[in-house]
Amino acid sequence: MVIYKNKIAGISGSAVDNASKGIFITFEGVDGSGKTTQIKLLNKFLKEKGFNSFITREPGGTALGDSIRKLLLNPENNGPVARAEALLFEAARAELTEKVIRPALDKGKIVICDRYFDSTLAYQGFARGLGIDSLLDLSLWATSGLVPDITFLLSLDASDSEKRLDRQSRKRDRIEHEDGDFKKKLQEGYNELAGRFKERIVLIDANKEINKIFCDIKLKMLELLISRGWLTQ
Ligand SMILES: Nc1ncnc2c1ncn2[C@@H]1O[C@H](COP(=O)(O)OP(=O)(O)O)[C@@H](O)[C@H]1O
Ligand SMILES: [Mg+2]
Repeated sequence: MVIYKNKIAGISGSAVDNASKGIFITFEGVDGSGKTTQIKLLNKFLKEKGFNSFITREPGGTALGDSIRKLLLNPENNGPVARAEALLFEAARAELTEKVIRPALDKGKIVICDRYFDSTLAYQGFARGLGIDSLLDLSLWATSGLVPDITFLLSLDASDSEKRLDRQSRKRDRIEHEDGDFKKKLQEGYNELAGRFKERIVLIDANKEINKIFCDIKLKMLELLISRGWLTQ
């Protein structure tokens, strides 16, 4: 883990605590960008290769986290103030990292998480204007410095995200209801993060076909597994 730790660009070493045996992978991107689709493909691929991987998601993954998820995403909850929203996400994240993610990493598992703190940085930090730096500090505090080994950021224009969400049969949640300007800002926020954390975040064009996207993800994943000595070339 030590070698890879040096690659976590933009975050000072003392704040980062990834001294675990496992691998922590996160997926980011606007709603409809294909996170769930790609996560399922990656988990299946890793399992077929014999790795002990599993999927979790934010907010949620623990009993309290799931209750916070309901509070946060219910369209009838007429929008908490941005700071309250950020703190609720961080509370759910603190639960998930301490109770689920860290114990699994300590056992040498591969954890794939659907959204993590980059979502807070893009949504509350950038799009809602609370500031990326202060929310990065808060996120590192909430997670005791747990930074992903790799983050796949699926990049999709706001208009394409809208089209995909319209095609889905399920009802939109509170954040999916946000208007187009908010979603544009969100994508801008994500682009800013991709620029800042170049070594950690892999930017993926989410407009491509599902299988082509997965090929890109698979290649990066194989590189990481080889660099960590989990696979030989
Ligand atoms: N690369 C793609 N091209 C076209 N449609 C896609 C692609 N990836 C996912 N979809 C479709 O878009 C919708 C949203 O995908 P999903 O994986 O649920 O996104 P997310 O989890 O990021 O919200 C689904 O109906 C899915 O089948
Ligand atoms: Mg999803």
